[in-house]
Amino acid sequence: MKIIVAGGDGFCGWPTALYLSKQGHDVAIIDNMVRRKIDNELHSNSITPIATLEERVAKWKELTGNEIRTYDGDLTHYDFLREVLKQEMPDAFVHFAEQRSAPYSMIDREHAVYTQENNVSGTLNVLYGIKEFVPDCHLIKLGTMGEYGTPNIPIEEGYIEIEHKGRKDVLPFPKQPGSFYHLSKVHDSHNITFACKIWGIRATDLNQGVVYGLDTDETQMDPVLTNRLDYDDVFGTALNRFIIPVCNRP
Ligand SMILES: NC(=O)c1ccc[n+]([C@@H]2O[C@H](COP(=O)([O-])OP(=O)(O)OC[C@H]3O[C@@H](n4cnc5c(N)ncnc54)[C@H](O)[C@@H]3O)[C@@H](O)[C@H]2O)c1
Repeated sequence: MKIIVAGGDGFCGWPTALYLSKQGHDVAIIDNMVRRKIDNELHSNSITPIATLEERVAKWKELTGNEIRTYDGDLTHYDFLREVLKQEMPDAFVHFAEQRSAPYSMIDREHAVYTQENNVSGTLNVLYGIKEFVPDCHLIKLGTMGEYGTPNIPIEEGYIEIEHKGRKDVLPFPKQPGSFYHLSKVHDSHNITFACKIWGIRATDLNQGVVYGLDTDETQMDPVLTNRLDYDDVFGTALNRFIIPVCNRP
């Protein structure tokens, strides 16, 4: 399949791009490198040294012969996204390209607005792009477990059957997000559901829990392919901060 991995320079996107390429898929990455710029803003960095995206894909080609094309650009710029979609005509679009830190979104008004504009507009552009240029393309979108909050009842897979005043319906499970970042994901989920309903787009919205770990079979093939690992108080998740450096890297 032809697959675009948006956010393919990031923690989840880079190993995913390598994995899909290794399986024989034809992979292209979109990334605007904003995560590396945020490292500078926060005076932080990945605890593992990470090569540039150009160095990474060149090493991958040298080792496997597989080319991963890269597009340096922003999903919130529709002119850019439209050209990439027309050029690639993907069968699947794996969408990791969002601001993904709850603490970052809560720093102040500016960071909250940036997070919601970046995430909601980017995903809306992807939905329109699929509708206009590749209506059969399957969207795989990373949402978050945090969309649900922590209700006192078991969380159902997306929907819940409710009986109210003698009538029954199957409704989306209530969302109780705990930050402006998590709210951006809820807005995305609504937009994706609506786009599927009105345009017949195919989408999988994964309400993913924390992803932990560092290495995959592919990233271990060479130090240049090493994945990023955030350990700071804004982007480092507790699992990655306290467990992985101890377990994974003696
Ligand atoms: N890491 C986790 O534990 C986890 C858990 C649940 C969900 N997710 C979701 O998975 C996705 C990826 O998370 P991650 O940990 O890999 O984050 P990350 O910050 O490491 O990677 C995101 C990548 O997307 C890029 N990006 C951001 N906005 C962009 C835009 N507008 N246009 C183009 N590129 C853009 C960044 O430069 C970065 O390389 C996010 O949507 C996140 O919310 C992650």
